[in-house]
Amino acid sequence: MSRTVYVNGEYLPEGEAKVSIFDRGFLFADGVYEVTSVLDGKLIDFAGHAKRLARSLGELDMRNPISTDDLLEVHRELVRTNDITDGVIYLQITRGAASDRDFAFPADDVEPTIVLFTQSKPGLADSPTAKVGIKVISIADERWGRRDIKTVQLLYPSMGKMMAMAAGCDDAWMIEDGAVTEGTSNNAYIVKGDTIITRHLGHEILHGITRAAVLRFAREAQMKVEERPFTIDEAKAADEAFTTSASAFVMPVVELDGAVIGTGKPGPIATRLREIYLEESRKVAI
Ligand code: PDD
Repeated sequence: MSRTVYVNGEYLPEGEAKVSIFDRGFLFADGVYEVTSVLDGKLIDFAGHAKRLARSLGELDMRNPISTDDLLEVHRELVRTNDITDGVIYLQITRGAASDRDFAFPADDVEPTIVLFTQSKPGLADSPTAKVGIKVISIADERWGRRDIKTVQLLYPSMGKMMAMAAGCDDAWMIEDGAVTEGTSNNAYIVKGDTIITRHLGHEILHGITRAAVLRFAREAQMKVEERPFTIDEAKAADEAFTTSASAFVMPVVELDGAVIGTGKPGPIATRLREIYLEESRKVAI
């Protein structure tokens, strides 16, 4: 069935939606994005995603073409018209299409391009993968230096995912200066004893919306949290490991570079955090 998508103010069948070949997202990866999950037809942490979107745009000096209220309405309309129960909504804003290819940013009268579409994923929260955990490999982090801005430059993460798949694994954790930054499309955590360890915020990682919520819930549940860099050796010797993202929530990691982590099964802390995250997020979904 053809989806209805949103492009620059219009709702259109996906086959009729068009963006210019001069769009700077296409030519320069000059764009930002957000992925918001939908559970039971409701948006998970829309406010967090809208806030990070505004920050990403601000950091790139890009105009925001839509108010938060209107953006919420577009998300809801797409959920309604595409009959989404569980899934994600992808949003992308680019600096728009100038009349030609030019490294310099175009004049202010060039409208940003905004595109949203849905991805239906029935049973998203009951993923069988979460019950067994995923296997990851480590790779060098060869991305640019402003990973806190959620840009559409995803070639290296995409290559990382392919390297993981070629190694018979599910994902890759990236290493810089001897420490793990994050996964290809998620934040990375280990658990040692009763302490959850994840890299501190900075330019080196994306400030995950799921990360913020999970750390808040962990602290509320009296779990210990340390925000600091950790090494692959530390991760291999950890009791548990997991990742967080809007599309996979809390995902246990059971193997790293071939080494079994903990018991080789999803650990109790990751499992509990997944439950708490899903339960609490559903309560306040809009
Ligand atoms: N990825 N780190 C990176 C590099 C990411 O791409 C993502 C999200 C995260 C987790 O952020 P959040 O909790 O806000 O989803 C961390 C999305 C889901 C994607 O690209 O599909």
